[in-house]
Amino acid sequence: MTIVHNRQIANQIFEMTFTGELVSKMTEPGQFLHIRVGDQVIPLLRRPISICDVDLEEKRCTILYRAEGEGTKLLSNKRVGDSLDVLGPLGNGFPLHSVVEGETAILIGGGIGIPPLYYLSKQLVQRNVRVKHILGFATRKDAFYVNKFEQLGETAVTTIDGSLGYQGFVTDYVNHENPAFDVLFTCGPTQMMKAIEEQMNPNRGYYSFEERMGCGIGACFACVCPVKNDSTGHEYRKVCSDGPVFPQGVIQL
Ligand code: FES
Repeated sequence: MTIVHNRQIANQIFEMTFTGELVSKMTEPGQFLHIRVGDQVIPLLRRPISICDVDLEEKRCTILYRAEGEGTKLLSNKRVGDSLDVLGPLGNGFPLHSVVEGETAILIGGGIGIPPLYYLSKQLVQRNVRVKHILGFATRKDAFYVNKFEQLGETAVTTIDGSLGYQGFVTDYVNHENPAFDVLFTCGPTQMMKAIEEQMNPNRGYYSFEERMGCGIGACFACVCPVKNDSTGHEYRKVCSDGPVFPQGVIQL
């Protein structure tokens, strides 16, 4: 893949677009890419990064990532024209067939869990599904893509310090506004998704997990999560190959 642009769009958040034949396979929102971040032996591992947007005609894919650790900082140093070693698309994404024309989907994201919801929202809108977004950030400086989500549908923003939008967590907003919806899609910290599930108790809900990963293809067990209501205590699912999106009730939140 060849990098078309790589720029900072918010506090520690970078937007990178790249192009290549592999993009034609990136049709399912919620899948992720496993990207080799450096040329050196260290850091050896790839970084799992969700797909944020795809232009199938132009064969362009956009990812957003937080340049925080050593690997993602290396990624932020890449330049236009550099080539990128990308594995994917990997995992199981959000099931588009779970919602039909005329229904309302609510998409709730926290921080760097927000990017995959953008490609999902675009595809839902194309299918004439009504979308509502609730995007949670720490502060105004951390916020990104708010205008882009607003172009797709109703969008509420929350910040912990109240510097943008509603003051509080996404769950505070939900508690206050009690928005109506048919299907819930969410991605963000597990604690956030747990609070959302308890509060909203959806009939249909899909949760995308952010888990530390190693291989990204089901071989190393770095990403296992316990199954809900497992009486044996030994059942688990791999976020990379069984997920990262799971229907409600599968994983212990
Ligand atoms: Fe290796 Fe999931 S990251 S099994």
